[in-house]
Amino acid sequence: MPLVAVDHRPTISLNGDWRTIVDPYATGLYTFHGKLRADGYFMNRKQAPGGEPVEYDFQKSPTLQVPGDWNTQRESLFFYEGPMWYEKEFSYQRKPATRVFFYAGAANYRSYVWVNGRKACEHEGGFTPFSCEVTDLLIEGSNFVVIAVDNTRHADGIPTLQTDWWNYGGLTRDVSLVEVPEQFIDDFDLHLKRGSRATIEGWVHVEGAAPGVEVTVSIPELAVRETAQVSADGRATFQFAASNLEPWSPEHPRRYRVHLQAGQDNLEDEIGFRTIEVRGTRILLNGSPIFLRGVSVHAEAPYRTGRACNDEDMETLLGWVRELGGNFVRLAHYPHDERMTRLADRMGILVWSELPVYWAIDFDNSDVLANAERQLHEMIRRDRNKASVVLWSVANETPVTPARVKFLRTLVAKTHEQDPTRLVTAALLVRTEGMAKVIDDPLGEVLDVIGFNEYIGWYEHRPEDAGKTVWQIAYEKPLIVSEFGGDAKYGLHGESDTRWTEEYQANLYRHQLAMLNRIGPLRGMSPWVLMDFRSPRRPLPGIQDYFNRKGLISDQGEKKQAFYVLQMAYREGAIGKAE
Ligand code: GCU
Repeated sequence: MPLVAVDHRPTISLNGDWRTIVDPYATGLYTFHGKLRADGYFMNRKQAPGGEPVEYDFQKSPTLQVPGDWNTQRESLFFYEGPMWYEKEFSYQRKPATRVFFYAGAANYRSYVWVNGRKACEHEGGFTPFSCEVTDLLIEGSNFVVIAVDNTRHADGIPTLQTDWWNYGGLTRDVSLVEVPEQFIDDFDLHLKRGSRATIEGWVHVEGAAPGVEVTVSIPELAVRETAQVSADGRATFQFAASNLEPWSPEHPRRYRVHLQAGQDNLEDEIGFRTIEVRGTRILLNGSPIFLRGVSVHAEAPYRTGRACNDEDMETLLGWVRELGGNFVRLAHYPHDERMTRLADRMGILVWSELPVYWAIDFDNSDVLANAERQLHEMIRRDRNKASVVLWSVANETPVTPARVKFLRTLVAKTHEQDPTRLVTAALLVRTEGMAKVIDDPLGEVLDVIGFNEYIGWYEHRPEDAGKTVWQIAYEKPLIVSEFGGDAKYGLHGESDTRWTEEYQANLYRHQLAMLNRIGPLRGMSPWVLMDFRSPRRPLPGIQDYFNRKGLISDQGEKKQAFYVLQMAYREGAIGKAE
């Protein structure tokens, strides 16, 4: 499982230019008879006299920037789906009693890693980190790493063949080598005990530690210094008083420097402490009811487009959420870059984090469930100590079938088991019965918060019909409308009943907000979507041009009229009741 808090460890960055070979027929993975190769093919070999012809040369091949998707770096790769071979040389000086791990923040979709021509690891999933130990693969001095990243979509993938976002391929997040002592802290969870404001509980797992190894947790600003011993499962458990702790909140995103020490390993993180729970139809943050004034966000880079992958991208996106008057963001439809949740921690923006279990996944397939569980674990493991993350979402708009309910109930149970401190939700489909909208998805029985998507005024009815809609809700639980909205091309103006104009979108928002304000147990909203984003499903020339235009802001940062409609509602508190 991937190392945690890597952004707080000494790393050797492998970001920058990588040599690349486009491999549309997967020559590097399969022989000419289609057999999976036992080892890598593009292994930086040199032509041996009389040997097999070496029909590639990384040194003469073009480069790509890492992190970054390949689609927006080279026009010839805009629609490319297939394997890409990356190669980078680096020097390394071995250190005594030190283990070295390869780490990638994410790579979409399947990755295969070799170091000095020897296989290190593989990973499936385009939006969660992975790492593997390479200590014994490294040599003193000059080394090279080769990574094959294949963004081919699969019917049994997560996500599957159909998505409404661009299938950006590549090493889309930071890549590095991480050095740790022989015994090291490879996972931990420290949080406020539910119902308490001054008791911290949790555990620290030490890889390679024998029972009895001492672990110390200290929080200097709270005059806390606690020790515990590792037990047989590698975990040291803690529970201690933290009097005069200032809880983390959007108004006061207080984080504390937390220092963990075990043997030779010292790891420092910045952690906010808060509680999140539901009571009846209310959501309570630190015991007080809260309304989540949010917006949905894709990881699309403002201005340049492509996969968001640097601090500037994240600061722009969350800066717009703050400008909107929001305190909440739905990071759709997959776990975003860790930079995003770190920034949300700093800014005090609550986060809905989501698995890419999107639309019609192969719910009957046990391998697909295993993949979902692995991506779930990777998502929780990376962000379990981020106060901003309050909701784990297990799915988006999945068709209601017995297999799907069984699959998702399993994921909900796993989420509660791995993280009992947060709320579990999903973005559900809503049934239509005439002018009634019915929320009675059986999955709702096991969710803490019911998310639902509706598009009155865009995919059905007219915006004005929102006012006539009757809502029938089968659950006494908090609701979040996780999507509503409509497309508008920035700068296109006309009557409010002319589709694709800013006026149409603004009018739709006005009618939607008036309707949503009448839904009693509504405790949050994340309209679709903050910014226009690329989608292969949206080709309409002159209007979409392969962009989904439901953004409140264009991909060039231009705010549409609807942005100001929502901003006024949020700033004047004209929407939403916390209780
Ligand atoms: C769906 C889906 C989104 C999609 C949106 C749309 O609700 O969840 O991913 O982009 O509708 O159609 O624009």
